[in-house]
Amino acid sequence: MKVIIVKDYEEMSLKAFEVMSEVVKNKPDAVLGLATGSTPIGLYKNMIKDHKENGTSYKQIKTVNLDEYAGLDYSSDQSYVYFMRSNLFDHIDIDLANTNIENGKATDRQKECDRYNALLEVMQQDIQVLGIGSNGHIAFNEPGTPFGSVTHIVDLAESTIKDNSRMFASIDEVPRQAFTMGLKNIMNAKKVLILANGANKAKAVYGLVKGEVTENLPASVLQLHPDCVLVCDEAAASLIK
Ligand code: PGA
Repeated sequence: MKVIIVKDYEEMSLKAFEVMSEVVKNKPDAVLGLATGSTPIGLYKNMIKDHKENGTSYKQIKTVNLDEYAGLDYSSDQSYVYFMRSNLFDHIDIDLANTNIENGKATDRQKECDRYNALLEVMQQDIQVLGIGSNGHIAFNEPGTPFGSVTHIVDLAESTIKDNSRMFASIDEVPRQAFTMGLKNIMNAKKVLILANGANKAKAVYGLVKGEVTENLPASVLQLHPDCVLVCDEAAASLIK
């Protein structure tokens, strides 16, 4: 794993943009694996700025997102499909038909997981962006998720519900279940770009970089990935320095 430690969130977002930009420039029809959460917002802002100022085009780019809350769709501003449009897709020239995310409102949830797995089989990510949960989760793969997992429905961990409640009016409104790509789908990406900032991520970052490779800390599986780049700020890197 390549580890890049930077000063703060702003520098992390700039470095992440550099890594992303190289993929997009070298392959204008690349498949980008994208993530939600507060961590990648700065990266997306840099992509938008570059699109507007330098004309970088996303017309042929395709995307696959990691996860979506079960029960939510674009009509909810807490949904991840809404997040992706408002934080990125609405501000670049991407064709929405080329963007993919699990359908949170699917009534047959297993069928939706099967559909998404079949899609991922023909859409290998040229790059997969990831944040990391304070408990070491990646996407919604909570501790204990098998490394061989593919897209599935998860019961969110209490710590995740608590972490994510800041985005909702109250903790009771946080959905208790979600669709998520599995760890095998993530590991299948050609390149992984994982981002972390803030002291509350320091323990998880330690497990990611220096801990035992264990399903108890899902992100540790990335130690086995042939091309994984971690960009983190000093606060998140405090235990690995
Ligand atoms: P955050 O979430 O970017 O909002 O910190 C990261 C994650 O839970 O994967």
